[in-house]
Amino acid sequence: MAKSLVEETKRITAQFEYTDDDVNRGVLEFLRQMNEGLQNDGTSLSQIPTYVTGVPNGTEKGLYMAVDLGGTNFRVCSVHLNGDSTFDLTYNKVAIPKELMVAKTSKELFGFLAKQIELFLKEHHEEHFEAHQRRRKSSKAPEGYETENLFQLGFTFSFPVQQFGINKGSLIRWTKGFDIPDAIGKDVCALLQEEIDLLHLPVKVAALVNDTVGTLMARSYAAPGKTSTLIGAIFGTGTNGAYVEKITNLQKSVDGDYNKSTGEMVINTEWGSFDNQLNVLPSTPYDKKLDQDSVNPGIQIFEKRVSGMFLGEIARLAILDLYEKPTLSLFKDANSNNNDGKATSRVGEGSGLFQQWGLDSSLMSIAVGDTTPDLSSLRKELESELQIRSASVEEAQAFKDIAYAIGRRAARLSAVALGSIVIQSGRLTETKDESVDIGADGSLVEYYPSFRDMIYEAFKIIKDIGAEGADRIKIGIAKDGSGVGAALIALVAANMEEEETKDTLAALKNATAQKLAGAIPSVGASTTLA
Ligand code: GLC
Repeated sequence: MAKSLVEETKRITAQFEYTDDDVNRGVLEFLRQMNEGLQNDGTSLSQIPTYVTGVPNGTEKGLYMAVDLGGTNFRVCSVHLNGDSTFDLTYNKVAIPKELMVAKTSKELFGFLAKQIELFLKEHHEEHFEAHQRRRKSSKAPEGYETENLFQLGFTFSFPVQQFGINKGSLIRWTKGFDIPDAIGKDVCALLQEEIDLLHLPVKVAALVNDTVGTLMARSYAAPGKTSTLIGAIFGTGTNGAYVEKITNLQKSVDGDYNKSTGEMVINTEWGSFDNQLNVLPSTPYDKKLDQDSVNPGIQIFEKRVSGMFLGEIARLAILDLYEKPTLSLFKDANSNNNDGKATSRVGEGSGLFQQWGLDSSLMSIAVGDTTPDLSSLRKELESELQIRSASVEEAQAFKDIAYAIGRRAARLSAVALGSIVIQSGRLTETKDESVDIGADGSLVEYYPSFRDMIYEAFKIIKDIGAEGADRIKIGIAKDGSGVGAALIALVAANMEEEETKDTLAALKNATAQKLAGAIPSVGASTTLA
């Protein structure tokens, strides 16, 4: 019995092998799809221009607000940037009610978000809030407020959005289990601003921010080194990355104004949809089933192999497959000799093992992290989380091996994405010894044991990186990217607006001067044209 369980487990884990050759093939295809996305719209790697044309250096200052929608929770924060790479952050966090993720209208969701902003302001910025309410009542202006009294807010909205400006962009598609069809194609900043205005809050949605862009900005602000940060990456509920690209490589058209002087722009890759066409990505029967049963079959194919929302489901499907084999005795083993009390292991009827999404990826982190000889913590968790009672060491080991194989494949796929961007940037070859900085956030990099080590291991075997290159790549955890990063982009946006106002004033002055000059020709003014 025990032997065939071991063999069957091996058969499953072998399907999640992602070899060195696979990694290198993946990199070539990733680079190809990156460049395709820089040239055309509608490609599988969207390569979205973000209108952010520089990264901070740590000296930025001021009080800003940020909200964050895109994972399991909605966060509202105010961020005080101290100008010395440090910041103070105050925040409220609420779980997003499941029914709002699939609400009938976007108004329901955005109304809820505005309400949370109101509660936050009342709780943490009461003075500002009340002064504003008083001004509104006494003001004769139709909007009832003056722009300078508004909080500038960075809206971290972590879904694929086609941007038209720093605070404008229409939703391309929902991901991560959200599905509210009437929001598609709409400007999400306007949707939020409308609801904010209905509540008369002193808040202006100044910037639209993907969490990866926020992470890149936050890392750059907090760890300004000799070289600026190249990539912001999320390995959490979803996965995605943003990076600094040379404007000359960005060949598709970019509408609207942006600052061209830096020669760079941050690009949101939306790598969750890398290789939707499955040119190179691995596909086990479990991956296929997960995709078929998801709300968005055929898209976010890379994300469905890498991120926290999906890894647990892949593991569940693989383990269920073993469990259902009549000839095998996984979690139903009367002969298990190693469990305490020599009881038959069994699975409760209501176990998550039998329900879609019933296995949380955090259980995989626990499994892989359990290094005790009898896997005691894992067996306890299997009981409390999945109603798997009296699991033997062998059974727990099978669970652990599968969790490890799925996590390792995810880490190596992550290395494909990160490694390709490092290669695309040219930073390893343009300088001899400078490091290439990456800010990362999300439950997988934070809690899945050795996730980063497995990424580095894969970097080493990538042809254009190698061991030396891998040593120069620094992946640092960037916490609070979606708060601090969003605040930083709100600051950039506010500065841009100030510049624009200055420009408009200067243009007005110019025009008036010209008019006056036309009316009363100044002495010595030439009236001849060429
Ligand atoms: C999904 C979203 C993307 C986001 C990522 C991480 O892939 O489409 O915009 O950055 O999740 O939250």
